[in-house]
Amino acid sequence: MAALRSLFLCVFVLSAALSHSHAQLTPNFYNKVCPKALSTIRSVVLNAIKREPRMGASLLRLHFHDCFVNGCDGSVLLDDIGNFVGEKTAFPNINSIRGFEVVDQIKQKVNKACKGNVVSCADILAVAARDSVAILGGPNYKVLLGRRDARTASVDDANRSLPPPFFSFSQLLSSFQSQGLDLKDLILLSAGHTLGKARCATFRTRIYNDTNIDRKFAASLKAICPPSGKDNNLMGLDKSSNFFDNAYFKALLNKKGLLHSDQELFGGGSQKSDELVSYYSSYPYSFRDDFGSSMIKMGNIKPLTGSYGEIRQNCRFVN
Ligand code: HEM
Ligand SMILES: *[C@@H]1O[C@H](CO)[C@@H](O)[C@H](O)[C@H]1NC(C)=O
Ligand SMILES: *[C@@H]1O[C@H](CO)[C@@H](O)[C@H](O)[C@H]1NC(C)=O
Repeated sequence: MAALRSLFLCVFVLSAALSHSHAQLTPNFYNKVCPKALSTIRSVVLNAIKREPRMGASLLRLHFHDCFVNGCDGSVLLDDIGNFVGEKTAFPNINSIRGFEVVDQIKQKVNKACKGNVVSCADILAVAARDSVAILGGPNYKVLLGRRDARTASVDDANRSLPPPFFSFSQLLSSFQSQGLDLKDLILLSAGHTLGKARCATFRTRIYNDTNIDRKFAASLKAICPPSGKDNNLMGLDKSSNFFDNAYFKALLNKKGLLHSDQELFGGGSQKSDELVSYYSSYPYSFRDDFGSSMIKMGNIKPLTGSYGEIRQNCRFVN
């Protein structure tokens, strides 16, 4: 009888432990352990955006570049140190992703507000992305929380998993599908390009060689982006790059997408994609709501939960 009871207890504890490590993310994760966590993150993000509006875009992109490389686990934040190679030198990241100082500042302030190290860097990225979107005029969707931080990173996986701007429609779609996302998510999340800027190097081939581009639009960009040199000259990804709106979709209808990958979503060969782009160009409120849903889906990519991973003390280094 005692043996049976301890067997039951054992099974119970084991299954509790297992279900915990596969726990779902929840919006209330920090309510008890640190009720000030979310307001602290938001205030640092707000200040950073006041200093430089583009920072909102940069923080949004960090969350994307985190989630697409082995899940939303803070791996993108790890520095190269000693023999440890992080993801910052991967082709899609190098000289491109930014916002690490803001993340450091958030981490410092959150640890102070929480009187301890309880908020993961992966969750900080998810919240900072949402706050950036909301502050710049987008939806204030509910972020799900409870991610933990990876103790590993992979520069090769970052090269492989982050879609480059020269991808075709079908390559973009398979990239998203391999993350468990669908066509609608591809279109909505690509419209994250309603915020931020791109370097000449990323849209040069498009303005000189693409055919699915408005001629005047291409000509006007050639001044900023010559056939060679000036790789780092910047151009807004849409014409209101500090404001979350649906100008991105309207631009695609007019063959004025900045990146080749953007324009592939309209006139790139998929009628369904064309229809969705048209739809969101006409229904900005649907875009706002649906963008939030797709961000939540992206934020759910392979999180570490329960006892997997760790809560990093400093987002740049494993503990
Ligand atoms: C669909 C595939 C995607 C491709 C090929 C792509 C590619 C790019 C490229 C090439 C840049 C410019 C980088 C540079 O000039 O250094 C960029 C910027 C940006 N991307 Fe994407 N991206 C994609 C999806 C996304 C997604 C899903 C999001 C977020 C939801 C996102 C958010 C951003 C933002 C906000 C910027 C501007 C960053 C800043 O100004 O600092 N992108 N993207
Ligand atoms: C990843 O990209 C970097 C920078 O271009 C490159 O040095 C490295 O060899 C790449 N790795 C793979 C596996 O493609
Ligand atoms: C445009 O295409 C030509 C021919 O393929 C190529 O030689 C050239 O480098 C391309 N230009 C740009 C800016 O990509």
